[in-house]
Amino acid sequence: MNIMNENIPNNVDLAGDRTLQRALEQWQPDFVSWWKEMGPLGSQAYDVYLRTAVGVDAEGWARYNYVRMPDYRWGIFLMPRDEQRKVNFGEHLGEPAWQDVPGEHRANLRRIIVTQGDTEPASVEQQRHLGLTAPSLYDLRNLFQVNVEEGRHLWAMVYLLHKYFGRDGREEGEALLERRSGQRDNPRILQAFNEETPDWLSFFMFTYFTDRDGKFQLCALAESGFDPLARTTRFMLTEEAHHMFVGESGVSRIVQRTCQVMNELKTDDVSKLRAAGVIDLPTIQRYLNLHFSVTIDLFGADESSNAATFFSSGLKGRFEEGKRADDHVLKSDSYKILQVRDGALVEKEVPLLNALNEVLRDDYIRDSAGGVERWNRVIEKAGVPFRLRLPHKAFHRRIGTLAGAPVSPDGRVLTQAEWDAAVDGWLPSEADRAFVRSLMGRVVEPGKFANWVAPPASGINRQPVNFEYVRFN
Ligand SMILES: [Fe+2]
Ligand SMILES: [Fe+2]
Repeated sequence: MNIMNENIPNNVDLAGDRTLQRALEQWQPDFVSWWKEMGPLGSQAYDVYLRTAVGVDAEGWARYNYVRMPDYRWGIFLMPRDEQRKVNFGEHLGEPAWQDVPGEHRANLRRIIVTQGDTEPASVEQQRHLGLTAPSLYDLRNLFQVNVEEGRHLWAMVYLLHKYFGRDGREEGEALLERRSGQRDNPRILQAFNEETPDWLSFFMFTYFTDRDGKFQLCALAESGFDPLARTTRFMLTEEAHHMFVGESGVSRIVQRTCQVMNELKTDDVSKLRAAGVIDLPTIQRYLNLHFSVTIDLFGADESSNAATFFSSGLKGRFEEGKRADDHVLKSDSYKILQVRDGALVEKEVPLLNALNEVLRDDYIRDSAGGVERWNRVIEKAGVPFRLRLPHKAFHRRIGTLAGAPVSPDGRVLTQAEWDAAVDGWLPSEADRAFVRSLMGRVVEPGKFANWVAPPASGINRQPVNFEYVRFN
């Protein structure tokens, strides 16, 4: 049978579990209502050239065609089961991976799945108005691609909730459609997902930095002893790669365009560049500082007994757990975290198990540096003497031991007065935001791009850059 002929495309034999199928079919119209209410604004009648997951074969896991987004086929796809798979860390190390939720870990697992699930619709809500100011059809299509796949990620988590958590799971599935990003009474669970994504520079920074947080959370869950969670997150990672590509290439194209105009006008004068309609590099650096710092808060407190519990009980591993050469139990290891003492940043040694949020954050930071280096190569190639950099991890933090500490992007501990005097040079000011907002306009002619961003090197799925990626009807 062709998977895509089913009402809910899936590779989990939904038809063989009528109760589950009925429960998901009841949730489906609520999801579509949520999409119509909170998904991309004004997009209901567009035909969009989208990728749709149709299976998990490395070769042909997706197809591309024109889709009206409310009719997108959001499916449920898990990587195939490995019968030999074992729990590969924590106190259950070496036991067969669990095909069901162990009773004693039920509450924690549900919390992990709900927290992950909540980020997916949240980002769609944060980005819903961006289509109105897309810099090109190519970018508009990429925005929608990210949005529909975040919708599918929500499906992936709701499937687990319905299948393994009974009535509580169904209630959580409803609640995931009721919370709203940024809403005071019923906000999304994590703070970064309640912030606005007001313009396309923010969108590209978000997909570079915050979707990369998604990658690291998914990688940690892909190690889970709870096998269905591992298998579903593993497949989600396939889609996540494109989201980060959208961010990295988006920022890269902005940088490229800015450098081009700097060379044409032979100037690094911010007001001249702004008058020429491009985003000056110092403003790009301030947006980078903001998105990086807000995103690294998502990894949680540097010392966390929850993180220790999630690891020891086999629910959430480390990034690339299987490739690490230690005992995977970590009872006698330690790790260094940072804190401010007597006006200086000092290291403090804590039990490794309690520092696993920090371990994942440090892995994330290393991974984030790669794209920044590639952006710098674009600047270098243009002969412009400016370099972007990741701020120090103590800069602008709101969670953990560094929360609220006045630390500069280069890692100096400041007085509050020094911080207040300098912060407009480090984070986007109202004037920066107003300027970036002023550039946002809609460009919809195939092959045309807004003035502030360079065209991509190539199109999507080997289509030309001037392909008609969205038909407005
Ligand atoms: Fe996602
Ligand atoms: Fe994503």
